[in-house]
Amino acid sequence: MSISEQSSNSKAVEAPSPSLASLEHESWQQLASAPESEDSAFKTMIVATCTDHRADARMVVLRQVDTARKYVWFHTDARSEKVMQLEAFPTATLLFWDEKQQIQLRLIVETRLHTDDYVADDQWKTLWTGSRKAYLSAQKPGSVQPAAYPGFPEHLGESLPTDAESEAGRKNFAVIECRVLSMEYLHLSRKGQTRAQFQYEPESKMVWLAP
Ligand SMILES: Cc1cc2nc3c(=O)[nH]c(=O)nc-3n(C[C@H](O)[C@H](O)[C@H](O)COP(=O)(O)O)c2cc1C
Repeated sequence: MSISEQSSNSKAVEAPSPSLASLEHESWQQLASAPESEDSAFKTMIVATCTDHRADARMVVLRQVDTARKYVWFHTDARSEKVMQLEAFPTATLLFWDEKQQIQLRLIVETRLHTDDYVADDQWKTLWTGSRKAYLSAQKPGSVQPAAYPGFPEHLGESLPTDAESEAGRKNFAVIECRVLSMEYLHLSRKGQTRAQFQYEPESKMVWLAP
């Protein structure tokens, strides 16, 4: 997808500053490398959703990124509140913050739920038993419990389920595919903030924004 770069009349954009295209490229590269990275702050993100009467938000792990097609994926429990919210209102915001680099990325996405299809099957196969353990809860996430509940069968304690035991989690596993409609970049610096928007849909364009 070719992206036309729109020049800004802002005097804050000096010649040595990175170009819009290089900022966009670098941001996607950082997202793409995050899931496998030891220490990237972009390994986790906040997913903000809507309900019919309020906003909601929570942290999730970034699982996969397609830089060419502009897609990202995360995993969740199919019974969770966020899934109900995304089914009713598929648009969400993904928020990333890297304290060390002082960079915020804000992605507006259109989500699609995968539960009983090859997308969910393929991603389930990549999960080790430690991750699968989170999907073994007999209780619906967010349901009221008579006492503290660990989110997996209590007999497991700190141990891992066997491969065979972990398969019971598959029915609760969901993949949320996020088609990125736009990405906003913000870099905080005493020398001057840098804010830019990269839009992919409905049309492709890149612009500098006033911070
Ligand atoms: C660092 C961190 C990572 C998390 N990763 C995930 C995740 O990848 N998927 C997920 O469903 N919940 C994850 N959670 C838990 C969610 O933040 C949230 O509590 C849970 O999914 C229930 O959210 P909901 O009621 O809005 O659906 C994570 C929490 C933290 C603190």
